Amino acid sequence: EKGGYDHFMLKEIFEQPQTIYDSLRGRLDAKKGTLTMGGIREYADVLSNANRIVIVACGTSWHAGLVAEYIIEELCRIPVEVEYASEFRYRNPVIGEGDVIIAVSQSGETADTLVAIESAKEKGAIILGICNVVGSSIARASQAGAYTHAGPEIGVASTKAFTAQLAVLTLTALKIAAEKGSISEQRFQHLLDELEDVSDKVATALELNDQIKEIADKYKDARDFLFLGRGYNFPVALEGALKLKEISYIHAEGYPAAEMKHGPIALVDENLPVVFVATKDTYYEKVVSNIQEIKARKGKVIAIITEGDETIPAMADDVIIVPEADELVAPMISVIPLQLLAYHVGVLKGYDVDKPRNLAKSVTVE
Ligand code: F6R
Repeated sequence: EKGGYDHFMLKEIFEQPQTIYDSLRGRLDAKKGTLTMGGIREYADVLSNANRIVIVACGTSWHAGLVAEYIIEELCRIPVEVEYASEFRYRNPVIGEGDVIIAVSQSGETADTLVAIESAKEKGAIILGICNVVGSSIARASQAGAYTHAGPEIGVASTKAFTAQLAVLTLTALKIAAEKGSISEQRFQHLLDELEDVSDKVATALELNDQIKEIADKYKDARDFLFLGRGYNFPVALEGALKLKEISYIHAEGYPAAEMKHGPIALVDENLPVVFVATKDTYYEKVVSNIQEIKARKGKVIAIITEGDETIPAMADDVIIVPEADELVAPMISVIPLQLLAYHVGVLKGYDVDKPRNLAKSVTVE
């Protein structure tokens, strides 16, 4: 049932070229330049006229929501907030008609997320559910939605569900932008083409598995890790840190790379591995300066970079080279090495990566 893999987690990481394809299939037709989303068709108008969008989720799904915030604001020019479901629901948020809530959940059963959307619905908001499990409670409580179609996720740490969420949230943003007229035809077509190419690029990134195992071996005894990124890659840094914590029990923190100098930089010494998600995008030059700041304090830099980059390899201790992609879709590719890194560190330390201690696949208590 593990399909020849040692663990479900590795199997599910390797399934991603297919699961990303499945999440786009039947929706995206790059050749024709069309995008069909059955589950939101009726609400396309409501979505494009939303005063604001609030994304509610927990954990890895919350990280997918953060990427979506950047994408929706960029393409749709609608203000977006991303909320931890547990905080959102208890602080008596200002919600009313004209607000759209997007609930993101793999299981569709996370209690905090479910309760958050139920109370927002009572206040007149429209709920869009992005769930993986068909017929789940959150899917049923939503008026509109789209399934991620990643298939059953058995490994407790979420991997393929995350990239499928990113794919579907990007499609949703494109759909709203097209409806609203806030995107040019060229950019729309360009992003459809980019989305279509993501599966192959993820397959290429998976070829780095052996190299990442070696890097994992080199750093597995570190006490702490820092993960840094900016822009679309900032949530990827958060996700890399969460995966490592869950699977290897190494303390790890994710930060926006520039925020590091406001505190976390105090932790940097020759024993601290710092993982930079530093692919070529609008933020690249700034990230290069952040890498210099770490090197000046003797931190060990492991950088996820784009092929063809000649600057960072001269500075970093280790580089992991991924295919080039538009910055909006890059997170689906740049997260792959971080999933593999967490996996290998956990396995090398002798832990049961499919069932990390203290964690459950779905958190059905508030
Ligand atoms: C991380 C992880 C958790 C879940 C979170 C939300 O690897 O698995 O952080 O992402 O509990 O779960 P869902 O998406 O089912 O609502």
